[in-house]
Amino acid sequence: MDLIDHARAVRENAHAPYSKFKVGAAIKAASGNIYTGCNVENVAYPEGTCAEAGAIAAMCAAGEYEIAEIAVIAGSPTPIPPCGGCRQKIAEFANAAVPVTLATTQGESSVTSVAALLPGAFDASHMA
Ligand code: THU
Repeated sequence: MDLIDHARAVRENAHAPYSKFKVGAAIKAASGNIYTGCNVENVAYPEGTCAEAGAIAAMCAAGEYEIAEIAVIAGSPTPIPPCGGCRQKIAEFANAAVPVTLATTQGESSVTSVAALLPGAFDASHMA
């Protein structure tokens, strides 16, 4: 099963009654283990969380902190770009070259990288 298939499967579990926009994310960690997450909305809208954040939380909860690959899928007309906050969250655990696969449920996909998604990222070196 490809990483995007894991994202496609977990997307079904999204809690998105407000936007009706379900998103799934899957991470392959450095160990090869796979962690998944879906968006979880809340009636108090800002309390909702993105699929990527859920997958990152699952990875950390398992004691892993290095993303080797990440895939995101939604029922969008074009492959879904992660929101700005999620780009920063991904960059926390992934080096610049890590591939990010963006896909639609209709089968369109594209591959980009952490560096391309978040150029000029704020990182720990800026606090030296
Ligand atoms: N969403 C994600 O889960 N990931 C993204 O990268 C973009 C947006 C979710 C948040 C919200 O539940 C819904 O999609 C609509 O914005």
